[in-house]
Amino acid sequence: MYETVNVVGVGGSSRPGSTAEQALRVVLDAAQQRGASVQLIAGPALAMPLYDPRNGAPTPQARRFLTAVAAADALVIASPAYHGGISGLVKNALDHVEELREDTRPYFSERAVGCVAVAQGWQGAVSTLAALRDVTHALRGWPTPLGAAINTTTSRFSPAGDCKDPHVQRQLEEIAAQVVEFATMRTLATRTESARR
Ligand SMILES: Cc1cc2nc3c(=O)[nH]c(=O)nc-3n(C[C@H](O)[C@H](O)[C@H](O)COP(=O)(O)O)c2cc1C
Repeated sequence: MYETVNVVGVGGSSRPGSTAEQALRVVLDAAQQRGASVQLIAGPALAMPLYDPRNGAPTPQARRFLTAVAAADALVIASPAYHGGISGLVKNALDHVEELREDTRPYFSERAVGCVAVAQGWQGAVSTLAALRDVTHALRGWPTPLGAAINTTTSRFSPAGDCKDPHVQRQLEEIAAQVVEFATMRTLATRTESARR
């Protein structure tokens, strides 16, 4: 029997419906089909002032974001490549995760994190995917074995939301499978540990 796990998707750009957001929605839909509950924090919902460690999380957006991350059983992060790396919008949101350093599960610890990068070429897609996986490590998360580097010059999304490139569509669905699987195992392990005490 599977536990219901809560998967939180974070990313996109300031343009609602950006390609990174579409990719995120595909992963979340696939996670939902596997029984997970899902939450999307995308685009404008990520617009927060530049993170300042002296101020913590001063805005409602930042607080909502941190509450969702703290409650997540698994995360998916999707960023466009901006100049070869994570966009400022997404990185600034990730910087705010510093506020979770003293949480019961600090930062992203104990959680699987699926990473998706979107760019207009392979170089930016791959370097941004590597950066997302590095940030996940730095935040003590577990990057899923599979990440997705999406090149929009060869792979587009349909108005219905699925990716027209079946290979990319399958990769995004596999990331969903991996985050749900890890979160389910982790939830069951935590429950077994508590029962033993
Ligand atoms: C400021 C900026 C910098 C960008 N830098 C890169 C880059 O270095 N490499 C790349 O392949 N694409 C780059 N792009 C293209 C975006 O990654 C691409 O447009 C985006 O991922 C596609 O999603 P969209 O639906 O948001 O346009 C850049 C776009 C912007 C606006």
